[in-house]
Amino acid sequence: MFTSMGDPYWQEKILKEFNGLLKGVFALPIYFPGTRHYKAVRSAAVIHRELIKVINSKRRSRPRGSDNGGEVKDLISYLMDARDENGEALSDKVIVDNVILLMDAGHDTGASAMMMLMKFLAENPDCYQRVFEEQRGIALEKRAGELLNKDDIRKMKYSWNVVNEVLRLSPPIQGMFRKANADFTYAGFSVPKGWKIWWNATSTHKVAEYFPNPQKFDPLRFDRVTITPYTFVPFGGGPRMCPGQEFARVEILVFLHNLVKKFRWELLFPNETIIVDPIPTSLKELPVYLYPHSGP
Ligand code: HEM
Repeated sequence: MFTSMGDPYWQEKILKEFNGLLKGVFALPIYFPGTRHYKAVRSAAVIHRELIKVINSKRRSRPRGSDNGGEVKDLISYLMDARDENGEALSDKVIVDNVILLMDAGHDTGASAMMMLMKFLAENPDCYQRVFEEQRGIALEKRAGELLNKDDIRKMKYSWNVVNEVLRLSPPIQGMFRKANADFTYAGFSVPKGWKIWWNATSTHKVAEYFPNPQKFDPLRFDRVTITPYTFVPFGGGPRMCPGQEFARVEILVFLHNLVKKFRWELLFPNETIIVDPIPTSLKELPVYLYPHSGP
């Protein structure tokens, strides 16, 4: 989707570098062999080099003067055709930066959310049953082979509550940095202008004043109360809020629909350790037993 590079060895190599880069995103910026920051900088350089090669090869293979009609469209070719606010083509560096941003921001976050969704549903069979019934109801209204549409997604109300509860208890992005534009005081702490601030979703989502009994997995809490602004922030907030939020919603709900329609599952290791580094990941990759539903 990003590069149209079908070579599995190349994909594996790039994925490894992306993981190295991701591990260094929240590391101390110590540029010294062996540190996470050092490895991340080197991974970024490899990715950069490889993606520049992809851009150059696309440029060479594009028919001169044509509208690139025959070309397989992927993220890089869309970015190559994009124009900025002054009508200028994007530089190679901007194209590469966008690919890296979308890969890190859009890929691992969704994967982590879906993994934790499977974990929570396996641990809460009553919630699984309600999700199953909601999704089966939607599936039964479809003709054979008919794809889901926007109205179907809108009908997935309980399922979305479940996803939100997963994102509350296990936000894929724990928080993000901001810079103080002015001196201010918050909760008795003075923050000088120019300081870097870390806002944290994990602890914000556990404030009992806004989320009573905060450790409890309770998807219906999203139906009972109106969520106070800036208390539920898996996608951040303000002008830099995640622009992929709607895409993530569709991606996760479509995945959930197709999964529960066909299977229920059990965790192979019920108490498997989840590490957060920097996104929630299962140490053993959350293996499950899948049981296909019998009957129609
Ligand atoms: C469950 C999935 C996702 C979660 C939990 C998530 C969460 C976040 C968070 C917390 C931020 C920082 C917001 C802030 O600073 O206020 C962010 C930024 C961003 N996200 Fe997502 N995201 C997800 C999926 C996606 C997807 C699918 C895409 C793209 C297709 C995407 C693209 C971005 C981009 C480009 C930014 C940077 C925005 C900026 O700085 O202006 N995200 N995301």
